[in-house]
Amino acid sequence: MATIRHVPTRLGARTNAALLALLALAFLTGWLAFAFGTSPARTSLIAHATSGVAILVLLPWKSMIARRGLGRPRPGRWASIAFGVLVMVSIVAGLGHSTGLVLWWGPFSSMEVHVGAALIAIPLAIWHVVARRIRVRATDFSRRTFLKGGLAVGLAAAAYGGTEIVVRASSLPGAARRFTGSYEAGSFNPPAMPVSSWMFDAIPSLDPERWKLRTPGKEWSYSELMGFDDRLTATLDCTGGFYSVQEWSGARLDRLLGSTHGESIRVVSSSGYDRRFPVSEASGLLLAIRCGDHALDAGHGFPARLVAPDRRGYWWVKWVVAIDVDDLPYWWQSPFPLQ
Ligand code: HEM
Ligand code: HEM
Repeated sequence: MATIRHVPTRLGARTNAALLALLALAFLTGWLAFAFGTSPARTSLIAHATSGVAILVLLPWKSMIARRGLGRPRPGRWASIAFGVLVMVSIVAGLGHSTGLVLWWGPFSSMEVHVGAALIAIPLAIWHVVARRIRVRATDFSRRTFLKGGLAVGLAAAAYGGTEIVVRASSLPGAARRFTGSYEAGSFNPPAMPVSSWMFDAIPSLDPERWKLRTPGKEWSYSELMGFDDRLTATLDCTGGFYSVQEWSGARLDRLLGSTHGESIRVVSSSGYDRRFPVSEASGLLLAIRCGDHALDAGHGFPARLVAPDRRGYWWVKWVVAIDVDDLPYWWQSPFPLQ
């Protein structure tokens, strides 16, 4: 009798422990993918998608646990249900984005809903794990448990590989994704390029007559910068889930900074938003004042924005007012902007 009751309880604890590990992995690899505009993004997204699908694989077991939990009237069950809804919304939006079947939820892109739901779920996830504590035992780390865990992950990887094959074979829109998962939008057609910002920045209206760019030891007017015509074809890959290739022109940062010495370049927006870059990258960065031979529009950073090839969109500071050089290392900043 004791063993009959014992087995499902351990199965429940192991399922919950596996879910915790998978949620943490999905969260970590999602952000890791955002940190790269180059090939490590793809590797991270393969691990990401596999962990996300593995959560779905465990759903039949988790629904047994949830049903048992809901059968015990306790405070906080609504928080658990809200947590469940948010995780499901995030996964459904992730799949909607990856297959291309659902790319918009009203004004929000599926990728925004996907990441937004995951972010809102964090406090509920912490509450859930603390309030519905599980006790992991040494026997939970047996060879059999690992084999079962490996089977679940293998199944998830196969399911993910399967969806990718279906997406390509049936020419779903998702087949056209870039390695970061983003969709092409308005390439070489600046008016069709979507406007988006990292988080809270509102579009300012700056007067080009009064606007000045401050660099070490010098101030530049808009008309002075119009004299530069350094050109760069680069891909703006937004974390909202789209990318756009444009020809940008303006002034290379090494030309604006001259022989200024220091460790890092800090590019500052009129909104206070800023990003740091290694000084060694100065010649690869462009302060763009034109896109496709036209002045930028307000949404895309008028009068001047940074073009940072091979970096995701949140590095491309808009409405730039200052470019400083100092001795702080470039990694001395939050990995993702906080405004
Ligand atoms: C609750 C946590 C999360 C879960 C369970 C989850 C799960 C998923 C799933 C199932 C997919 C679809 C994979 C596919 O079949 O192609 C996906 C896609 C994606 N997720 Fe997440 N995700 C989570 C959080 C995040 C976060 C926090 C980020 C970024 C900061 C993120 C970034 C992405 C990206 C970029 C894709 C698109 C991949 C592609 O199209 O190739 N995810 N996610
Ligand atoms: C995909 C992620 C998860 C979802 C959607 C989810 C959802 C739920 C829901 C809806 C319930 C029933 C309501 C309640 O008892 O409050 C529940 C119960 C529970 N959950 Fe989760 N949960 C998840 C992950 C986890 C994790 C990571 C842990 C612990 C590490 C955990 C531990 C528990 C426990 C111990 C119960 C109570 C079971 C019982 O009373 O018999 N859950 N979960």
